[in-house]
Amino acid sequence: MDLEIQEEVFIDDLEEMKEVYQSVGWMMHSTDVIKQVFDASDIKVLVKVNNRIVGLGRAISDGIFNAAIYDIVVHKDFQKKGIARQIVNHILEQLKEVSCVHIITTTGNEEFYRKQGFRKVKTGMARYLNNELHNEYLE
Ligand SMILES: CC(C)(COP(=O)(O)OP(=O)(O)OC[C@H]1O[C@@H](n2cnc3c(N)ncnc32)[C@H](O)[C@@H]1OP(=O)(O)O)[C@@H](O)C(=O)NCCC(=O)NCCS
Repeated sequence: MDLEIQEEVFIDDLEEMKEVYQSVGWMMHSTDVIKQVFDASDIKVLVKVNNRIVGLGRAISDGIFNAAIYDIVVHKDFQKKGIARQIVNHILEQLKEVSCVHIITTTGNEEFYRKQGFRKVKTGMARYLNNELHNEYLE
């Protein structure tokens, strides 16, 4: 597999990125939303196979104490090939000096992050605006 990692997002990438989100059922990610959240991220990773975007991920970091990883998404037709692992490893390599890296995993994908070295946070807390997400993720 001819796999390439890109660390920037260009306007021309947004439609293909939307297709990646849509392939896994994340329909809220319009091209405007994708542009906003990636513009606001310190670390951006796009994975291309044969010049097509098939996976993505991003992180926000203060560079010293804390960082958070978001939106690790691999197109449904390209899953189970180690692509998400490569995205997370690429992000973690850039965060190797940062004390704490957070991730809130989506339901059912906890084991994937455990395999990348993450563990449950004893004192983790969050608040969601959306009631469904509140009910799914909070005690
Ligand atoms: C979760 C997701 C990113 C995994 O992508 P992927 O490219 O298929 O994952 P990889 O092939 O890199 O998997 C790496 C390892 O994790 C394991 N793994 C992946 N997803 C898993 C899951 N849901 N449960 C248990 N193990 C999982 C793989 O079997 C593999 O194990 P191995 O190293 O022993 O072979 C992908 O399923 C996805 O895009 N899901 C929808 C979006 C989403 O919910 N993302 C998470 C946001 S927090």
